[in-house]
Amino acid sequence: MNILRKISQKLLHFKTDLKRRLEKPMYDKIGGFEVIDKLVDDFYQIMSTDPVAEDCFATHSGKDIRESAEKLKFFLSGWTGGPQLYLEKYGHPRLRARHFPFKIGAKEGDQWLYCMRKALLQSPIKPEVQEELLNAFAGMTKLVQNRES
Ligand code: HEM
Repeated sequence: MNILRKISQKLLHFKTDLKRRLEKPMYDKIGGFEVIDKLVDDFYQIMSTDPVAEDCFATHSGKDIRESAEKLKFFLSGWTGGPQLYLEKYGHPRLRARHFPFKIGAKEGDQWLYCMRKALLQSPIKPEVQEELLNAFAGMTKLVQNRES
């Protein structure tokens, strides 16, 4: 009985592993750097003009938004399984540590996600892939949050 259970566990592991290996990386599902490039431009365009996102935008005060956008594009390229552009230029992302200087609570996190959701809707990315990305982004906003509200 134990042997049967072990064999079925091994088969299940083999199946999930194979599925993961055969699946296209997120970078390709999105459509590569061209799509990331426009997504992030739209994201920052929304953040800098939509009053709903004003607290999130305020954390960028004094920053050159074109530079912030480039950093996010480079990061997303590597994070989705494409070229590791951020790592090559800036080193390890250490996202939590790099966000410490900014006041980021749940409100700022929600506003970040709001802008990303809107930018994704303007992109050619398939709805189910958008959903997958948003779920991952929601986890990331929790990671960089450094205060309650
Ligand atoms: C939760 C709300 C967030 C706020 C308020 C926020 C705010 C900021 C600010 C103010 C900067 C500095 C920009 C600059 O140096 O030009 C920054 C940098 C950055 N953020 Fe965020 N961020 C948030 C969430 C995220 C998330 C979810 C990601 C990733 C998916 C992300 C990725 C980055 C990256 C890669 C950088 C560049 C880090 C560096 O090189 O210094 N941020 N963010």
